[in-house]
Amino acid sequence: MNYFESIKSQPIKEDPLILGIETSCDETAVSVVKSGRKIVSDVIISSAYRHAEFGGVVPEIASRMHTTAILNATEKALKDANVTFSDIDAIAVTEGAGLIGALLVGVSFAKALAFSLNKPLIPVSHIRGHVAAAYLADENLKPPFISVLCSGGHTAIIAVKDYYTFEILGKTIDDAVGEAFDKVARVLGLNYPGGPNVERLAKDGKKTVKLPKMLKNYSGGEYDFSYSGLKTAVINYVHTQKQKGKEINGADVAASFQSAAIDVLINKAIKAAKEKGYNTIALSGGVGANGYLRENLAKATAEKGLKLVLPEKRFCTDNGAMIAAEGYLQYKKGNFADLSLNAKANVPLG
Ligand code: KG4
Ligand code: ZN
Repeated sequence: MNYFESIKSQPIKEDPLILGIETSCDETAVSVVKSGRKIVSDVIISSAYRHAEFGGVVPEIASRMHTTAILNATEKALKDANVTFSDIDAIAVTEGAGLIGALLVGVSFAKALAFSLNKPLIPVSHIRGHVAAAYLADENLKPPFISVLCSGGHTAIIAVKDYYTFEILGKTIDDAVGEAFDKVARVLGLNYPGGPNVERLAKDGKKTVKLPKMLKNYSGGEYDFSYSGLKTAVINYVHTQKQKGKEINGADVAASFQSAAIDVLINKAIKAAKEKGYNTIALSGGVGANGYLRENLAKATAEKGLKLVLPEKRFCTDNGAMIAAEGYLQYKKGNFADLSLNAKANVPLG
């Protein structure tokens, strides 16, 4: 029997221990999760500090850093969980979307592990992983619910109809919200990663800079977003002020941008939940770590009598636990990969 035949013949366990591996960007993250819900250990080794001087992720550096970090991260995840490789029931790994060179490190490592341990290899969509972080935040959460996905690569309002079926109610027609945060950070002279730095600066600012209303004469979907115009408006404002020799109040620019970028996310999420008949909203993706978003979404959901599932900030940004959580759902269905698994730059949103 070859590897794949052997895997396919193994029984599916009720409460598996899954190792989740995430290397799509600049975080080497490995986690052990029990039954798709309980985080037993969670290790993140970030190479963000190496990218800071370049103002953004340098793919080549990210790949090299994953190569040196992945075994350490895995050994630490096992040690923290007080288990050994033989206790692990399956290996879940991000297959995409992300930086190909970075993904390949995780995929190759996971393949080698799965083959040598003779355990199932589960390919996981990074996007579905972000959504699945909600199951870790609330052990009792069950679909249906609305997931507000806001990361560096995606922005969408997703109706999670059951564990496997997504309906994309709306999405960005150009840039992702996290991307806009990162670009605005750059023009304000803030370091990578931009999002948290814009948030910090915005704390002392007032919403005094007038920015354009998103998708003003747009006839597309009512839950869609567009961040490219907002981003450009901020960049133009900063450049024009500079040309006129005027002082720029960075804190006010940051506060004005943050509110313009986030308020619309909150409004559309609430609108979608109300209009489509969902009573729970879950936040997902790196921008979900934003305090302004978390506080105001909490207020808005409370006002409307909606339940809010808010993963800890650490589980909004990239982590291995969310990959194990989604890996668990795929494990239950026996969605295993053979050893020809490859990395994918893009995966479908749904
Ligand atoms: O989900 P994530 O870690 O990676 C992707 O899948 O893209 O999201 C990263 C994005 C970056 O654009 C980063 O600037 C943004 O999330 N981000 C934030 C905050 N923390 C991370 N944006 C705003 N405020 C934050 N506190
Ligand atoms: Zn992510």
